[in-house]
Amino acid sequence: MPHSTARSTAKKHFRTVFNLLERHHKWFQESLPLIASENVPSPAVREAILSDFGNRYAEGWPGERVYAGCIYIDQVELLAVELAKKLFKADFADVRPVSGLVANLVVYTAFAQANDVMLTKAIVKGGHVSMGPARVKGTAGNVGRLDVQYFPFDDENIQIDVDKSKEKIASLVKEGKPPKVGMFGGSLILFREPVRELADALKEAGAVVCYDAAHVGGLIAGGRFQDPFEEGATIITMSSHKCLPGPQGGIIVSKGEHADRIKEVTFPSTVSNHHLHHVAGKAIAMAEMLAFGKQYASQIVRNSKALAQALYEKGLNVVGERRGFTESHQVAVDVSKYGLGGDIEKKLEQANIIVNRQMLFQDVQKGLHYQNPSGIRLGSQELTRLGMKENHMKDVAGFLARVIVKGNGSQRVRREVAEFRRDFQKVHYAFASSRGAYEYIRIA
Ligand SMILES: Cc1ncc(COP(=O)(O)O)c(C=O)c1O
Repeated sequence: MPHSTARSTAKKHFRTVFNLLERHHKWFQESLPLIASENVPSPAVREAILSDFGNRYAEGWPGERVYAGCIYIDQVELLAVELAKKLFKADFADVRPVSGLVANLVVYTAFAQANDVMLTKAIVKGGHVSMGPARVKGTAGNVGRLDVQYFPFDDENIQIDVDKSKEKIASLVKEGKPPKVGMFGGSLILFREPVRELADALKEAGAVVCYDAAHVGGLIAGGRFQDPFEEGATIITMSSHKCLPGPQGGIIVSKGEHADRIKEVTFPSTVSNHHLHHVAGKAIAMAEMLAFGKQYASQIVRNSKALAQALYEKGLNVVGERRGFTESHQVAVDVSKYGLGGDIEKKLEQANIIVNRQMLFQDVQKGLHYQNPSGIRLGSQELTRLGMKENHMKDVAGFLARVIVKGNGSQRVRREVAEFRRDFQKVHYAFASSRGAYEYIRIA
């Protein structure tokens, strides 16, 4: 191929990427983003991510780096550490993990050996693949080499069964296989976890008590969800980009006794260079949470409750009716009366309503698979950030119900959703900016 043709083909690909990026931004300006594990960061966080920090190497802890050139990077990272400690009332914070999964891997590596038992929730009961056993290729089993066992779960009450879990801990101790990690939290997390009820039994057995707040970190920071430290956990891991509205990444906060071990495992066992631009973005997001987190977290929970109630009133089978549907940002809906979760997810996407399918508690017994389970999961955190309140959740529920129940009219709903979204184009609960939430910013 002549040189000029190769260059023009490359330029075509180059343009295609930018074209697709801009189309994505426009689509999200006209959509209802309801995926519970995502969020839209503030324009200030986006600016931090674009900085030159993203092109540099640090490795190690501020002041003990492997690379030169970290004068300002160190100051930002130390500030991020202080902000995390303040936000979560922690003795120690490590902002280097590049994701929530990596934060969990730090815990497995630091506090357990191969074949040690970890007690946690099964994926179908709300656990996450990072807590999963080797047979499902989960991180804890496949990478951490842990013997992953489950807390018995009470499907009716949507909660780890406390009495049966105590019996399980006692019998593991008796068998000479005491748990070394007790891991709470999860991907489907509607209600508080029984940390207070089980922490002592786990600690007496010799386990560290960890809470995976990947989803609910922002609610804990805003004082609107259980505080795992107050209830006896000594480590909290999280993603920095779900209810906590930062850039994608992970954070670990802990009690002082674990500081050295976490610090020496994060680097060099799980990251070499960590993502320094994201550390800056985490610091900005945490500063914004200190300023606005209480109002933000309260509105998230009010919105998810309002969304659940409105969906229920439209006849949908919302999970957790007996317990008031939800105490978090999430709402789970059993859609099996109308189709399967994966198919409904696709129909909703055609209507610009972005959700994800969800395995519900009995799906394995029903022979259902995660590709097409019986449920969908919704999160109110991103719509809340766009300024929506309880009354807007009724409109959102209306759009959802029209697609799920009627199963058609996606094109019409799509137009109406785009119209509805016009009034919600700014990021709230952040320091003021003239930029739109999904504004595409050109540099090149
Ligand atoms: C409970 C839980 N833990 C860990 C993770 C992994 O987080 P990340 O995607 O930041 O690696 C997730 C992701 O959704 C999660 O739900």
